[in-house]
Amino acid sequence: MGEWAFQRCIHPDCAATFDIDAVLTACPKCGDLLDVAYDWDRLETPARLSWFEERWARRTRPLDFSGVWRFRELLAFARTKTTEMPLVTVGEGQTLLYHNVRLGREIGLSGGQLHLQYEGFNPSGSFKDNGMAAAFTHARMAGATRAACASTGNTSASMALYAAALGMKAVIFIGSGKIAYGKLAQALDSGGLTLQIRGDFDDAMRLVQEASTRLGLYLMNSVNPFRLEGQKTIMYRVLEALGWEVPDWIVVPGGNLGNSSAFGKAFIELAHLGLIDRLPRIAVINSTGARTLSALVNDGGLSWNAGHVDEEAVSRYYGRLDRDGLRAHTLASAIEINRPVNLKKCLRALEATDGVVREVPDEEIADMKALVARSGPGCEPASAASVAGARLLIDEGLISSSDRVVCVITGNVLKDPDLPVKYNSLPAAELAGQLGLFTDRPPRWQNLPVEVEADLEEIVEVLEGDAP
Ligand code: F0G
Repeated sequence: MGEWAFQRCIHPDCAATFDIDAVLTACPKCGDLLDVAYDWDRLETPARLSWFEERWARRTRPLDFSGVWRFRELLAFARTKTTEMPLVTVGEGQTLLYHNVRLGREIGLSGGQLHLQYEGFNPSGSFKDNGMAAAFTHARMAGATRAACASTGNTSASMALYAAALGMKAVIFIGSGKIAYGKLAQALDSGGLTLQIRGDFDDAMRLVQEASTRLGLYLMNSVNPFRLEGQKTIMYRVLEALGWEVPDWIVVPGGNLGNSSAFGKAFIELAHLGLIDRLPRIAVINSTGARTLSALVNDGGLSWNAGHVDEEAVSRYYGRLDRDGLRAHTLASAIEINRPVNLKKCLRALEATDGVVREVPDEEIADMKALVARSGPGCEPASAASVAGARLLIDEGLISSSDRVVCVITGNVLKDPDLPVKYNSLPAAELAGQLGLFTDRPPRWQNLPVEVEADLEEIVEVLEGDAP
């Protein structure tokens, strides 16, 4: 293989390599997942991460402005010997690492630091834009004209945005009724062909893969290895915001497991290049209602095992789900997934970073979502799973109260307006009736609106009663 970037099967016994331009979402030889791989010796990479700071002075150039492409030397798949491929950007990655002292104290980090990495500040309102910038760049290299994805909402919103910006067609597979309103609105507004499938995300994922193969659609889900190249940059920006120091923990919600896989790859590569001297520990947080990773790792002891993952154990688990008619069910609809496509890459990331998996119930997610918004920008439900997970790990004593912890806040508060309105406006009994939650305790951070007459005296009375 003459190029410095190529695609490679993750299975150590196969490790087949393929051209960087090929459109593949699985290894044609053995069916396993693919990585984008680099011959680093043939690439020019900086000697220090602080080298990337030079780009800040050139923010008027779109590629230096992009929070993905200002790190382009670390995802240099788009270069060929003869031409410089035009990289795709819509201004993604202008995100914030927010040091939240109050929330940190609230969850038990007395001497440590809690940082929230707000990926909801991306153009489409979620972390997905990082991956789409890279995957659409590859789609253009491959000459694709029609992009497709299955989605719980954010992938489709992001894909639809990039497709609209590039004049490409977007085809979206969603589970009917399984998508938050803000996200559905984005998909429809952008003009993407939106298929509401009578089924859930796992059905939609299977069908979009089959349809893409049959019709030659360019698949934008995170089985596309280029998506994960873009999502590595979330971790570069975390390091950048910490003055290039490595935190102790990265805590991330787990759905299809693309982020955790990408973060692991990012740190493995940075360590290989000598750009960091230690790896943070990654904690992946499932919702209790979509706990495949937690079940397989914590109950079943599944591990990467040098690439020889016990696939029979995984098949047995999926067989049990099918036999018992068990479907993912959580109010954190973004992570309502029972068959995570990146399972194996996530196991690799967990092994490399001495990572852990935890699960949190929907009540905790809802409470933590409200609490996040009490001390800074809010987030959507799935994102709050990371903070709920961090709190659990602090309670367990695994995260020490003096650690530096980064929780990835994956999506914007406006994505899912339904839950906060219900959470804050329904009496506890009705909340239990409508959501099936809080049946044995009231919500902790409810902020009920106060109804008043259009009468100044009554309003003054209420405000005087509320004075600090
Ligand atoms: N948080 C949010 C807000 C998400 O939208 C998703 C995934 C995740 C977390 C989970 O990330 O898959 O990398 O483990 N949403 C996908 C979608 C599935 O279709 O929008 P992951």
